[in-house]
Amino acid sequence: MRSKTVLVVGGAGFIGSHVNKMLHQAGYQTVVLDNMNTGTQAAVTRGSFIKGDLADSACLDFIFSSYIIDAVMHFAALIDVGESVREPALYYRNNVANTLNLLEAMHRHHIPIFIFSSSAAIFGTPQAPIITEEHPCHPINPYGETKWVVEKMLRDFELAYGLKSTCLRYFNAAGGDPEGEIKNFKKKETNLIPLVLRSLITPQGCVSIYGTDYPTPDGTCIRDYIHVCDLGEAHILAMQQLFEGAPSDFYNLGNGQGFSVRQVIQKAEQVTGLKVQVIEADRRPGDPPILVADAQKAAHQLGWRPHYPELETMIKHAWQALN
Ligand SMILES: NC(=O)c1ccc[n+]([C@@H]2O[C@H](COP(=O)([O-])OP(=O)(O)OC[C@H]3O[C@@H](n4cnc5c(N)ncnc54)[C@H](O)[C@@H]3O)[C@@H](O)[C@H]2O)c1
Repeated sequence: MRSKTVLVVGGAGFIGSHVNKMLHQAGYQTVVLDNMNTGTQAAVTRGSFIKGDLADSACLDFIFSSYIIDAVMHFAALIDVGESVREPALYYRNNVANTLNLLEAMHRHHIPIFIFSSSAAIFGTPQAPIITEEHPCHPINPYGETKWVVEKMLRDFELAYGLKSTCLRYFNAAGGDPEGEIKNFKKKETNLIPLVLRSLITPQGCVSIYGTDYPTPDGTCIRDYIHVCDLGEAHILAMQQLFEGAPSDFYNLGNGQGFSVRQVIQKAEQVTGLKVQVIEADRRPGDPPILVADAQKAAHQLGWRPHYPELETMIKHAWQALN
């Protein structure tokens, strides 16, 4: 029997490159499409690689007519919340218009299944510390808005064209390749764990703690970190369920337990044996004290459970990917 082939869009980036490798380990073939805006070809350790942009419909038509693609996993996006506030046009262009381009190409070529990298940013200001899928979606920045628009677009595409999709709303992706094969090639970091680790290998590197007077046990913000390979497993489970006829759905993907900024820093010092230089700064507007996923729905419906929930493991794997 022919193994199924997945188009991994944004597969040269952090999360996509790990999922690409895991797809091969699970017996799938892949074609990776990436424009190399933030991706690195060395991260594409398996499958065919095509350098191209989602804005290029001819490139998408070429891929869909040259390969038998059974499903698309879509990781490609601009992901910097602050930049999205300063440059919203870039974000609507790349995250919405280019995704529409991809969905239209899929429709032209009758590709039936789509897995989308959504984000906890769709929820906006949390009304509770633990976020279920029922939490209202009111994004408070253009990045979150672009993810929410695509989720709504997918509902309309299913009604009109029958496209089956799963939206996976990640909290903070963390960790790295447990086998040490894929390195962290990111040129610009926005997530706390790699920021802390990079500060240790940068001359005069330091980390800012924004707010030390939050109503949390140590006064710093608590966030949910989820290992990149646990995200990968959820993608494969969700896709398999769609292949087996499950309906379209959406899931929060997180660890279900939060870690404070100080806990991350202390654990990073313990794992690396190095001292993190810290600057204590004021709170940033819009940063809630606690943001943690309720991932029970994914546990019940996808049979998904994180294999690497410990902060220490996530930091060890992230550190290994930097060295
Ligand atoms: N990293 C996180 O913590 C996190 C959290 C929630 C959601 N997400 C979502 O997960 C996805 C992957 O995030 P990541 O951290 O791996 O980011 P990343 O920047 O490492 O990867 C994105 C990849 O997409 C590529 N790309 C961007 N625009 C493209 C285009 N128009 N055509 C072709 N390729 C394009 C980039 O070159 C890059 O390789 C994104 O959609 C992001 O919004 C990430």
